[in-house]
Amino acid sequence: MKDRILSALSGTYPWKERLHFFPTLGSTNDHLRQLAKSGAPRGTAVIADRQTGGHGRRGRSFHSPEGSGIYLSILLRPQCRPDQLMHLTCAAAVAMCDAVERISGFRPGIKWTNDLVCGQRKLGGILTELGFGPEGNVDWVIIGIGINCTQHSEDFPEELRDMAGSVAMAAGTAPDRALLAAAMLESLHRMSEDLIPRRAPILDDYRRDCITLGKEVVLLRGDERSYGLALDIDETGALVVRFRDGTVKTVNSGEVSVRGMYGYL
Ligand code: BTN
Repeated sequence: MKDRILSALSGTYPWKERLHFFPTLGSTNDHLRQLAKSGAPRGTAVIADRQTGGHGRRGRSFHSPEGSGIYLSILLRPQCRPDQLMHLTCAAAVAMCDAVERISGFRPGIKWTNDLVCGQRKLGGILTELGFGPEGNVDWVIIGIGINCTQHSEDFPEELRDMAGSVAMAAGTAPDRALLAAAMLESLHRMSEDLIPRRAPILDDYRRDCITLGKEVVLLRGDERSYGLALDIDETGALVVRFRDGTVKTVNSGEVSVRGMYGYL
């Protein structure tokens, strides 16, 4: 697999020597975090054919069976303040839509913030992590991406069967995983160059791909539920919501469910 990914990468991809491939890992993010803390250079990427402890936000697990998906993490070291990276997950999501579209012809939607979707099904997710230097500057950034590639509904565990999708289900044929992994790496490299200078156009692309906008949403914070309409994505990547009492607020965190998706009907 590693050789196929390397030969699919274009001659201009600068981080070929920094690609690590493993048949099995607990989590590519966890492995790369150790490398980051030991001083690994930017562009170091870890791909596993299977994860035994793949995870997403809020400690949720990310189902990562062998030979079915891409489980990839990449390390960046942007020279900037943390507040300049508020849109990082949005930028990574757009970059992943570009890669999937390039290889399969199908462009996923994005459920705010970090889910790649096809209709009502989630086909991938993104987990970004930041590490800080002594002065509060950004030391490292890890972007971890999991994309379901070859599965059909019956391949998913029962509890995911109604919610999970794959590129194969969306596009009609299974993508070549090595080609997709190479396209993801190239998109992430391009994104790393554009991240700070092209923040506004990246966010415009995100708004175009984001299926949450214009939908009814419910914000879950602890036991509290607030209902509203998703109006916009602001310049930091936060979701602007008009709540039922008429107030308009930006939402940075908390769980946002979109009406019609993942069992919220
Ligand atoms: C989410 O759905 O909340 C994010 C899922 C992110 C999963 C990917 S798979 C590669 C990398 N390694 C992990 O443990 N997580 C990310």
